[in-house]
Amino acid sequence: MSCAQIRSSFLEFFESKGHRVVPSAPVIPHGDATLLFTNAGMNQFKDVFLGTGKREYLRAADTQKCIRVSGKHNDLEEVGRDTYHHTFFEMLGNWSFGDYFKQEAIAWSWELLTNVWGLEPQRLHATVYRTDDESFEIWKQFLPENHIHRFDEKDNFWEMGDTGPCGPCTEIHYDHTPDLSGAPLVNAGDPRVIEIWNNVFIQYNRKPDGSLEELPSKHVDTGMGLERVTAVLQGVSSNYDIDLFQHIIRAIEKLSARSYVADLEHPDGIAMRVIADHIRTLSFAIADGAIPGNEGRGYVLRRILRRAARYARNLGLTEPVLWRVVDALTEAMGEAFPELIQHQALIKKVIKAEEEQFLVTLDNGRAELEQAAKQVTDNVLPGAVAFKLYDTYGFPLDLTDLIAREDYALQVDHAGFEELLQQQRDRSRAARKTHVQTVQAADHGLSTTFTGYSTTESQTTVLGVADNQVILKETPFYVEMGGQVSDTGMLVVGGSQYAVEDVVKSGDAIIHVCETAVECTVGDVAIARLDVPRRRDIEREHTATHLLHEALRRVLGTHVQQAGSLVAPNHLRFDFSHFERLRDDELVAIEHMVNEKIFESIDVVTEELPLEKARTVPGVKMFFGDKYGEKVRVVFVDPDFSAEFCGGTHVRNSSEIGLFKIVSEGSVAAGVRRIEAIAGRSIPQWLTKQRQHIETLTAEAGQLHERIHQLERELQRNRTQQLLQSIPSLLEHAVTKDVEGGLTMRIVAGRVDVEDMDQLKAVGDELRQQLGKQGIGLIGSVTDNKVLLVCVVTDDVTSRYSAGTLVGKVAKELGGGGGGKPHLATAGGKDVQKLDATLSAFASVLS
Ligand code: ALA
Repeated sequence: MSCAQIRSSFLEFFESKGHRVVPSAPVIPHGDATLLFTNAGMNQFKDVFLGTGKREYLRAADTQKCIRVSGKHNDLEEVGRDTYHHTFFEMLGNWSFGDYFKQEAIAWSWELLTNVWGLEPQRLHATVYRTDDESFEIWKQFLPENHIHRFDEKDNFWEMGDTGPCGPCTEIHYDHTPDLSGAPLVNAGDPRVIEIWNNVFIQYNRKPDGSLEELPSKHVDTGMGLERVTAVLQGVSSNYDIDLFQHIIRAIEKLSARSYVADLEHPDGIAMRVIADHIRTLSFAIADGAIPGNEGRGYVLRRILRRAARYARNLGLTEPVLWRVVDALTEAMGEAFPELIQHQALIKKVIKAEEEQFLVTLDNGRAELEQAAKQVTDNVLPGAVAFKLYDTYGFPLDLTDLIAREDYALQVDHAGFEELLQQQRDRSRAARKTHVQTVQAADHGLSTTFTGYSTTESQTTVLGVADNQVILKETPFYVEMGGQVSDTGMLVVGGSQYAVEDVVKSGDAIIHVCETAVECTVGDVAIARLDVPRRRDIEREHTATHLLHEALRRVLGTHVQQAGSLVAPNHLRFDFSHFERLRDDELVAIEHMVNEKIFESIDVVTEELPLEKARTVPGVKMFFGDKYGEKVRVVFVDPDFSAEFCGGTHVRNSSEIGLFKIVSEGSVAAGVRRIEAIAGRSIPQWLTKQRQHIETLTAEAGQLHERIHQLERELQRNRTQQLLQSIPSLLEHAVTKDVEGGLTMRIVAGRVDVEDMDQLKAVGDELRQQLGKQGIGLIGSVTDNKVLLVCVVTDDVTSRYSAGTLVGKVAKELGGGGGGKPHLATAGGKDVQKLDATLSAFASVLS
């Protein structure tokens, strides 16, 4: 059977036992702050187990995409070094919600494994919780007593995380040993006997203080590793030898031109297993809306990518290569998980960009290490250096060890490193604790009903009070979620008013954090009143965010996925996957599309739909919805335009938004862009600011203009002064000529270098002054490839010689013309070559 057939066969089996087959939840858990990644099939049913949610069915089955890289269930460091740990795996599961219990769960496990899949019963072992006699007795129906083993909390009490649903469990282990000698190896961490299926009997809720609380009903929660059971059914001893993984490994072999080696110690084998595993985690996480980054989930993904990239280097691959493995993964798993196909291009781009960035970091880290190594005198690389490499450059200790040893023959001070790491952990734990304690101070397992979708004021009762924190039975105050910030407002109780500065959620209760201590007692009547204008502003920004998201997808393409969002009263911020700067025309088109939807005055419709139905809404966006319960809230702004899973509050009609304006666009990380925009009432304010800005700029521009003018005039004056200095030399070269009537004329002809006719005229004027009497001057310049001429005649002889006539004659020779007054005339010409000759011959034209 292929892996795909095993998956379907499991689901069909439980369907035949009355189970509803449901889709996998995304690997990014929405609405559960206790988890970074979905780590078990039961996550999406947590509310049912806790008794706060319901489904239409009492039995369910699915294959759940799981990531175990942080928190309670973290397998990261094992991956690659053994045959059966993964950061990403599929968990086949069946559930009973207060319906069947131990007998049916165990009997069906047995039936599927031995009858349907034909596993040899003598290869199966069961473990039970040390005090669970009931399960022990049930197993005796199928197994001899020496195949049933009791274990304690560590192995047979399953918990989702530090808090949440939990209970004793019974596990089924498979014995790979040829001679069936595996009994002592059960739970011994030996790959020859491995756990394949866990049946948890959920009965308790682990509270934050560590105590166990009995749940209202008893449930069954099972999980079977698809990869492990496939290995068993395909008769291979390593998960990496199953068809699905082999397909991916073939691609890595091709890229590296090396062969896969199943040997657990062989570096090539380890590297290929790491890459094959990590590429699944990265791709599924990105497909479900996560992006590598610097914090939380993004940081975990970044570390996984870096681990894979380092191992790629061990295969001799120095260029980004992980992204090239995505196609093989999509071929192997795209049919079962179409999101891989849908987001294939995006996944590749994000991984490639991140790899490129890391390779640079790796080189920088190596440089840092080299520097530090040079200063070492005692063959020990200080723990502080290793910690810096770890913290700043993402170097795991084993990498630092390796480089230190092989390149510099140094040992790393592990104790020093661990101490710094511990200090860092303590710091972050301390930070977490303070927060949790404040919130829990007012939490007594109370629950608040949110009335704020339909009202802005509720008259209600006080359920709990501690200092400045108050829990009410009902409240219109929205608690920050899905990017929308919390409401603020007023609490009226006991004849006094208190400003509500913040609201936070604790369990099912909403805590109102007031400016000052609140004087009231449980049972008092209170009025919770929103700051309505602020809430309306937030709503405008929120609905505008939905329109913007859709407009981005329409203008840029469907690869656009939300990567983060902030909806505040006076602006919105939207981060999304896209790889280039947005062009101006794209921004204009996006803004236009949003505004058109505003002007169309569309009613905003909100529907509570069953998850199954909501998923089928055409074009629905669901990656960052608030909660994936059985019912989800879908917000429509024109069903043909925008439909989005969303728990936030919105305007009633798009026209309420008024107007939308993008104010900035930029990059936040590789492959992630950010748009900041404003809507509604923020726009007039923004316009006023813009106008003031323009006015300031205009005033400044006017001053600058004036100044430029001044400088130009000054320059002109200086230039003219300079030009005038050429007059004495012109006069030196003056010639005299006796003309009819006994007159002796002084004639000056020469060349000057001017920028325009005004300058030439200024020189001419001065020349005329200095000639005084009986003088004629002709000056020419070649400016902008044309000839400029000015002729001057002293006043006493203008009755005899006219500057106009003279300059006209000369200009004619130079292919131009001109004229003017008898004492000063100007002309232009074309033959620049002839200018000098014409000037030299000027005296001869006079008679
Ligand atoms: N929730 C159980 C597990 O993850 C089935 O093992």
